[in-house]
Amino acid sequence: RSVSSERSIRARVPPMLTDLYQFTMAYAYWNSGRHNEPAVFELFFRENPFGGGFSLFSGVHDCLLFLRNFRFTEEDVEYLRSVLPPTTNPAFFQFLRELDCSGVTLRAVPEATVVFARVPLMEVDGPLAVVQLLETSLLCLVNYASLVCSNAARFRLAAGPDRKLLELGLRRAQGPDGGLTASRYTHIGGFDMTSNVQAGFLFGIPVAGTMAHSYVTSFSSLEEVWPQTLLPADGEKDPIDLISLTKGLLGRLCELLGAEPAKIHEGELAAFLSYAIAYPGNFLPVIDSYSVSCSGLLNFCAVAMALIELGHQPRGVRLDSGDLCRQSVEVRRVFKHCAKQFSVPVFESLIIVGTNNISEQSMMELSKKENEINVVGVGTHLVTCTRQPSLGCVYKLVEVRGSPRMKFSEDPEKSTVPGKKAVYRLLDSEGHPLMDLLCLSEEPPPLAGQTLRCYPLGQEAHLAVTPTQVTCLRQEVFAKGQITQPLCSDAECREKVQRSIQNLDPRHKRLQDPEPYSVALSDKLHKLIAEIRRGTSANGKFLLNN
Ligand SMILES: *[C@@H]1O[C@H](CO)[C@@H](O)[C@H](O)[C@H]1NC(C)=O
Repeated sequence: RSVSSERSIRARVPPMLTDLYQFTMAYAYWNSGRHNEPAVFELFFRENPFGGGFSLFSGVHDCLLFLRNFRFTEEDVEYLRSVLPPTTNPAFFQFLRELDCSGVTLRAVPEATVVFARVPLMEVDGPLAVVQLLETSLLCLVNYASLVCSNAARFRLAAGPDRKLLELGLRRAQGPDGGLTASRYTHIGGFDMTSNVQAGFLFGIPVAGTMAHSYVTSFSSLEEVWPQTLLPADGEKDPIDLISLTKGLLGRLCELLGAEPAKIHEGELAAFLSYAIAYPGNFLPVIDSYSVSCSGLLNFCAVAMALIELGHQPRGVRLDSGDLCRQSVEVRRVFKHCAKQFSVPVFESLIIVGTNNISEQSMMELSKKENEINVVGVGTHLVTCTRQPSLGCVYKLVEVRGSPRMKFSEDPEKSTVPGKKAVYRLLDSEGHPLMDLLCLSEEPPPLAGQTLRCYPLGQEAHLAVTPTQVTCLRQEVFAKGQITQPLCSDAECREKVQRSIQNLDPRHKRLQDPEPYSVALSDKLHKLIAEIRRGTSANGKFLLNN
């Protein structure tokens, strides 16, 4: 799979998948001889998505594969020559031909970690022109992956740990690549299955799906059922006429439930029979094409009981419209009734799949109401992230030639935190993350059990905290052209997401009105910002070399 991931990144995210201004800046740097100046950029987002208290950081592995493959082809260079002005020095194109990421070092929060707004998640250190060229592609690789993974994790929190979640957003997704990215990262975020076959093929995600309404409505009479017979599961006996068997059962069922045979749709029965004959071990029809209670449910029960008589195991039903909770309760009641009256214990374990424009809100309502839904399918609201369509990760310069850089802004929220940093996660005595602390990289790390003074972002006052445990949040994952840490599999990342969310204090993981998580600056970093703001330390060199 990692070979196919790498091939896929090379094809989908060549170094040309970037904004033109990265090349125009790179040329201007090169032209003035600054292209090899050491520079440091940081990547972060300013607000947790969906009004939540946390996010998940995803797409890091793809960034690493992108960095490892970063080379311009002759065709790329020819195209760039055609779009940059004719005055561009031809030697610049030779520079591009020889460019790679061997001078770049990346420190990043590991894939699928719970993260918070304003914490620098990646530090990209290397020659100025190269690290500038990487900006757009890195942002493109992490922004949507992290957003949709976080969205999936929220759906998982809303659904509770036991309900199975099926992603079926491909047809509504933002194009083919958006659809594929959504399937992959919603699986990592907590979904169990996808309807997307290519995602199953590429990433090993379990795929699921049976039939649409079109299959049901394409049939109008029992004469269209062909073949009409099915072999019993034990394979010993002769084929059985499934139509006659089902008709008999349907009659008994109507009597038992007091249902009107005249309301039962023959075409629907024909569709169910044909499907059951094709897939006797995977019978899970959609039962709301005409009427769940007057037709679909009865047709399902009759065909399912016929399958059971032949030794096969039907799986369940899908509801795709109306009040899913109420219908599921009714369906379950009939299943239990049948299990008893017809002595078919298999009916006790049939599953009910619900799919109907499910949003986070409706998932939460569903979890509160009485219902019998075992599997929920989610499409549009999951993959398009309707509540917030972009994460807004940014990539900001924090140091050049060893001296800190800071962007001021009239909007204080948009100012950047200067300097090359180390990021620590402080844990409390229960092991919950307590605060993320940003320090200058040359500062000694905070120590467990020792009280430190820090400045929570967005507040003037300082605070004293005593962590029980201190972890270093970022790791060096790429250096000298190589990936320096083993990449964990998507399955491992998926487990890590759940572990990492479980570890979060409930106050921060509430879906609505969560308590903000503290992100703070060290004393030294706070001082540096004050110096730069006062203009007494325009580039910070004096302070840093202290
Ligand atoms: C799906 O739900 C949203 C609200 O969550 C609503 O605005 C939209 O119209 C619904 N779409 C369909 C096709 O029912």
